[in-house]
Amino acid sequence: MTVPGTYSQVMILVTAATGNVGRELVPQLLSAGQQVRAGTRHPQGAAFPNGAHATHFDFSDEASVREAATGTQSVYLIVPETVGTETLKRALSVMKEAGVERVVLQSGFGAERGDNPLGEAEDAVRDSGLTWTVLRPNWFMQNYNQMFRRGIRDRHEFAEPAGEQRTSFIDTRDIAAAAVTVLTQPGHDRREYPLTGPQSIDRHAVAAALSGALGHTITYRPVDDDGFVDFLVSTGESDEEEARGIASIYPPIRAGDTAPTTPDLHALTGSTGHTIEDFAQHYRQDWLMADG
Ligand SMILES: NC(=O)c1ccc[n+]([C@@H]2O[C@H](COP(=O)([O-])OP(=O)(O)OC[C@H]3O[C@@H](n4cnc5c(N)ncnc54)[C@H](OP(=O)(O)O)[C@@H]3O)[C@@H](O)[C@H]2O)c1
Repeated sequence: MTVPGTYSQVMILVTAATGNVGRELVPQLLSAGQQVRAGTRHPQGAAFPNGAHATHFDFSDEASVREAATGTQSVYLIVPETVGTETLKRALSVMKEAGVERVVLQSGFGAERGDNPLGEAEDAVRDSGLTWTVLRPNWFMQNYNQMFRRGIRDRHEFAEPAGEQRTSFIDTRDIAAAAVTVLTQPGHDRREYPLTGPQSIDRHAVAAALSGALGHTITYRPVDDDGFVDFLVSTGESDEEEARGIASIYPPIRAGDTAPTTPDLHALTGSTGHTIEDFAQHYRQDWLMADG
């Protein structure tokens, strides 16, 4: 039976399903009664919730894209930074040939401004011949329990080339909730949604939220690009090449472009989203546990 105002149940493929948003989206889609294929390059070792079908999916392996797409009507497209635009275009073409009808692209806040890989991904999706929706989430709160986790745990600080600028960070659980809405309800074709969290805050406020959750002082240290690379490499979170790549995407932050908040998350989900304090409390254990 179809609930009025929702699409009938279809098979949805989530790419990069083990990543920051994918791991939140898969269970939320299952809770919404959808059938889910969880795409990963390593389906044997992946731990997905009961009901999700772990599926081999690698953007650079066309056969895997075809097999994962066959029998799915919709795709939530997360494009890892290592995947180039030509590879993405080919994957979209294979998806269309395999019978996919709709694609929801996870882009990034401000990607529509200027040349950048996510802007190119948006163009590729619009030109794909598939029905499309674009989500443009701002910087994830979950960067603080991923790429800054060891620094926060071991040194009680994190360092970024962000100066004193503010960012309206968003929790990936809220991005997933917005994705559930656009994947399961009509009215979102050819729409673009800039998604932010509820607060526009500087990184000292992030540090204060982490301090409150952990019970000891965490400090934000503004640095230049070299200081950032040194921090990520010396905390064991990144190699130099990857850290330089991440440093290269900070200029919009320093220009204040990631500071505004938007009403779109609330419009899609009925919630303004988790605060940084909610985030820090929820993931508290991540900054306390040993590696492994
Ligand atoms: N981090 C942020 O603050 C932020 C903000 C806005 C937008 N974004 C955008 O969101 C996207 C995801 O970024 P993220 O940093 O959060 O990464 P992520 O989703 O955690 O992505 C990493 C995942 O990509 C998968 N993957 C890697 N290479 C792949 C390939 N060749 N084919 C298929 N899957 C592959 C890996 O899964 P397996 O190893 O299981 O295959 C891994 O789980 C990017 O486009 C990024 O620009 C990020």
